[in-house]
Amino acid sequence: MDEKLYEAMNAQVTKELFSAYLYLSMAAYFEQKALGGMAGWMKVQAKEEVEHGMKFFNYINDRGDAVKLGAFEKPKSDFKSIKEVFQQSLKHEQGVTASINKIYDIALKVNDHAVVAFLQWFVDEQVEEEKNVNDILAKLEYVKEDSAAILMLDRALGERKED
Ligand code: FEO
Repeated sequence: MDEKLYEAMNAQVTKELFSAYLYLSMAAYFEQKALGGMAGWMKVQAKEEVEHGMKFFNYINDRGDAVKLGAFEKPKSDFKSIKEVFQQSLKHEQGVTASINKIYDIALKVNDHAVVAFLQWFVDEQVEEEKNVNDILAKLEYVKEDSAAILMLDRALGERKED
């Protein structure tokens, strides 16, 4: 693989795995608030992020390159509200989308059509990821501080299953 493309692909393994770590930190916050549904939603998200990381991990290996894992920063844990958690989640996903788009641009530039094809799944997935969090943020706007509504939303989010 082209060196610059390899570096970006390799860095994405750590970025995706860090996403899992961040979502686990968010799950821990919800567990502390006795919001088991939201915690469950975050745990499913964390598992999906591990799968995303593994897709990059396996693909890099399939192409004959060596994966080199990077370090994680400490994930944020001092959230002030339910809304802040999902706002941070959206911000994080927007960053991941930008990162995927950047790798896509490099792959196009170096004419690596196989990587372009591989990345298409992630381009589509990021639309879904951002939509999911935007939907939750929109619902939180309706809910505001209504405890009963928060518990209903918690129950609904707890129904999320792994893909
Ligand atoms: Fe793997 Fe949420 O992006």
